[in-house]
Amino acid sequence: MAREVTHEERGPAVLDESDMGDDDLIYVCRCGLSDTKPLCDGSHNATADEDEGVVYKYENDDSEGERREVDEIVYADE
Ligand code: FES
Repeated sequence: MAREVTHEERGPAVLDESDMGDDDLIYVCRCGLSDTKPLCDGSHNATADEDEGVVYKYENDDSEGERREVDEIVYADE
């Protein structure tokens, strides 16, 4: 499983202790669907039933948006 996500930011995010959860850890989103990037907001739960070997696109990169399968991502140097 994988998903295509559009990123619009052009620079890094700076994290500090205010980004820590109640357990004093910082959870960084790696699924690409969080509404509070770069922090995880639990949106990754929508990916739990994605199939291996399939690339998905969520409408508006929203975990509640319609999910569809997309063609495999092909990189220019492959
Ligand atoms: S890893 Fe992306 S929302 Fe949790």
